[in-house]
Amino acid sequence: MPINVFEPKSQFISQKKEIINAVKKVFNSGNYILGKEVLKLEKKFSELHQTKYGITVKNGTDAISISLRALGIKKGDEVITTSHTALATIAAIISTGAVPVIVDIEKFFYTINANLIEKKITKKTKVIIPVHIYGQCADMEKICKIAKKHKLFIIEDCAQSHGAKIKKKSIGSFGDISTFSFYPTKNLGAIGDGGIILTNNLKFEKKIRRLREYGWDYRRQTNEPGINSRLDEIQASILNIKLKNFNRNKEKRILIANKYLSEIRNKNIILPKVRTNTTHVFHIFSIMVKNKKKLVKYLNENKIFPGFHYSILSHQNIGYGKFCKFINKELIFSNKISRFQLSLPIYPELTNKNVNKIIKIINNYK
Ligand SMILES: Cc1ncc(COP(=O)(O)O)c(C=O)c1O
Repeated sequence: MPINVFEPKSQFISQKKEIINAVKKVFNSGNYILGKEVLKLEKKFSELHQTKYGITVKNGTDAISISLRALGIKKGDEVITTSHTALATIAAIISTGAVPVIVDIEKFFYTINANLIEKKITKKTKVIIPVHIYGQCADMEKICKIAKKHKLFIIEDCAQSHGAKIKKKSIGSFGDISTFSFYPTKNLGAIGDGGIILTNNLKFEKKIRRLREYGWDYRRQTNEPGINSRLDEIQASILNIKLKNFNRNKEKRILIANKYLSEIRNKNIILPKVRTNTTHVFHIFSIMVKNKKKLVKYLNENKIFPGFHYSILSHQNIGYGKFCKFINKELIFSNKISRFQLSLPIYPELTNKNVNKIIKIINNYK
């Protein structure tokens, strides 16, 4: 059997009965959009991340663009972020007419290098979007200080970091707003699309709720246009079932990552590092290797299929670069990771036998 980098079906199988029952309940309820299941998910998920309000949306990309709009971001404003992220982060910024300003990542942790942010701040800068990439926490202490000093907003892109923590404080509770994706392979994944926005600010919460549904207020009146980015009850019910096992699944990912970290021994392979005093939730277990092609071929021959996050930096995508502000020679570690990075299979249902197989095969790689 091939071992793939993600295997979302295995999670469905592990909770098949419960998921099917929950979905049947929704079918019979006659209420299919923004109902009880959605409200339950918004409450539970915001509590889990130590924030007051949760507003579900259709996906993690909408979560970012709606958040930017809620902060009043418009054409020509600048948003500081990284290019070593899912294309979605940059796509969401560009969709508002704002300009993504690209900063390099840290050498060891692959998150935005906070020391490089200040020199990119101009009069047009309005927001910093740190991405907690792979499940690793960005350096929020430094980023929050910079944002405060320059009166900038922070939107945390938590699409890959559900449940990650800095000391005891949950990611998603540091910024003004935070955004999550429930894409099927994520650490909390739907069986379809989904996303959520968290905030502690009541004014933002109200505005986000309006923007996600045409701009309607509770009387269905509008002061400004919004979009339709509603989550349906079926996805919410599935997510509520999966939420019950969330902490257990998070621990399983960490267990697998720790096994990789302690047992992979190969001088050709650079293993990831975890920032001190943080909980890395290992959405992705990222390794670096000089000859990526050779290792991929070898792994494929052994029926292991790694992922690539990301071989093309966001601003290098045709159609995106012209909307971004960047100086390529400054993006030293972003460029490096795009050339040498591979993602090993990691998900809660990955068996111990397969983890051992992956370790053994990598250790035998020459
Ligand atoms: C870092 C990051 N941001 C945003 C997103 C967007 O999420 P979605 O695919 O749900 O729109 C993703 C998911 O791919 C992501 O990994």
